[in-house]
Amino acid sequence: MKKVFVKSYGCQMNVYDAERMADVLAVKGYSETKAMEEADLVILNTCHIREKAAEKVYSELGRVRELKEERGEAGRDTKVVVAGCVAQAEGREILRRASVVDVVVGPQNYHRLPDLLDQADRGRVVDTEFPVEDKFDHLPLASRARTISRGVTSFLTIQEGCDKFCTFCVVPYTRGAEVSRPVARIVDEALRLADAGVRELTLIGQNVNAYHGEGPDGATWTLGRLLHRLAEIPGIARLRYSTSHPRDMDQELIAAHRDIPAVMPFLHLPVQSGSDRILAAMNRKHTSDEYRRVIESIRRARPDIALSSDFIVGFPGETDSEFEDTLRLIADVGFATSFYFKYSPRPGTPAAEIAAQIPESVKAERFARMQNLLETQRQAFNHGTVGRTMDVLLEKPGRHLGQMAGKSPYLQPVQFETDTHRVGEIVRVRIVRAGSNSLFAEQAAPGDRAAA
Ligand code: 5AD
Ligand code: SF4
Repeated sequence: MKKVFVKSYGCQMNVYDAERMADVLAVKGYSETKAMEEADLVILNTCHIREKAAEKVYSELGRVRELKEERGEAGRDTKVVVAGCVAQAEGREILRRASVVDVVVGPQNYHRLPDLLDQADRGRVVDTEFPVEDKFDHLPLASRARTISRGVTSFLTIQEGCDKFCTFCVVPYTRGAEVSRPVARIVDEALRLADAGVRELTLIGQNVNAYHGEGPDGATWTLGRLLHRLAEIPGIARLRYSTSHPRDMDQELIAAHRDIPAVMPFLHLPVQSGSDRILAAMNRKHTSDEYRRVIESIRRARPDIALSSDFIVGFPGETDSEFEDTLRLIADVGFATSFYFKYSPRPGTPAAEIAAQIPESVKAERFARMQNLLETQRQAFNHGTVGRTMDVLLEKPGRHLGQMAGKSPYLQPVQFETDTHRVGEIVRVRIVRAGSNSLFAEQAAPGDRAAA
């Protein structure tokens, strides 16, 4: 049996895509390996969002080349595929820069991998055209055994692409226009996942709350409506979605946080900046006050909701006081956790053309200040859960014997002392201590009320 090694960089969508590539190849007789040196097929599933991420692929390809040579000397062939967003953005250029690569395939074309690998026997191939067919119609669903092996939480792509065109972002170019999958297909996939023991679904999309898929009734369904349908599936106890745009937080979706117990009280809602001038230059199509109002309305619906966001420091032209506006917004809103990045100019995006690029030293200084504030908030949030009772979904064995590792409703990693519970169970626990990255919990006393 041939072996495939897949390495994914970047976002959750790439993690999902990597699994689907493995599923497509499983049908063709490939089994997965975690050791690159024993792979007959190496796939790098790449990310183009920032320069650092994009450059990683070339250094990794250097390693792959050594490996291919070593295997070649031992008489074994190795095929090398570059997939994902760098593939989409750079296409043929990758073949020029890296002679080791056999196939370059974009995120909308990986259902064709078996064909492309056959073609690669006759010469190197690039497939980055946006296809007329929908890849999801051509992808096999994973077998039950494969799904079981992947654990009790799962991503499920419901939407792909983005029509927002924030001026810093490559996504609308690499992932293409916004497309929503039909409700029936999503429900089918969710039923199969539930049947294989999945308890928690994270619905993913580059603009997941812009979801507008065709419903079984012929009407267009929003994300709020879809959440109601998925919550009916037996076994599915937890629903999350990521990543969202503030403009698309409609009333139906906000109400879903109030009305559906399975929708977890955690929301990743990127704001990027707290300055209205920078938000306009980013083409975010909302002000900082509009963001605050959306947050207020979500908190009214679900008072215990924990929030996270993405931030960019050093967007072209950002002044000290505009940066301070962002720190003020962070202080006002209060985030449980967040992601923050130094602005990285991306080829082909409007912001990369702005003359007033910010010096690296200024970006670094702002980054450090933001880190300080967000890290303090994260620790405060985690410490604030000590003494509370909450439900934890057990995902895998813990760090030590007699421990299980799981997640709180707020997506915090939890280590739980137990000898009796199993993966997939949702257990009411009491948080006894907060470490720097995990919470530590013991079983709650009978009758303890959960916070969420
Ligand atoms: N530079 C820095 N960060 C970026 N992001 C997207 N594009 C860039 C860029 N050019 C960040 C945004 C986005 C997250 C996924 O990555 O914060 O929300
Ligand atoms: Fe990029 Fe903006 Fe679309 Fe998010 S909403 S994927 S940041 S263009």
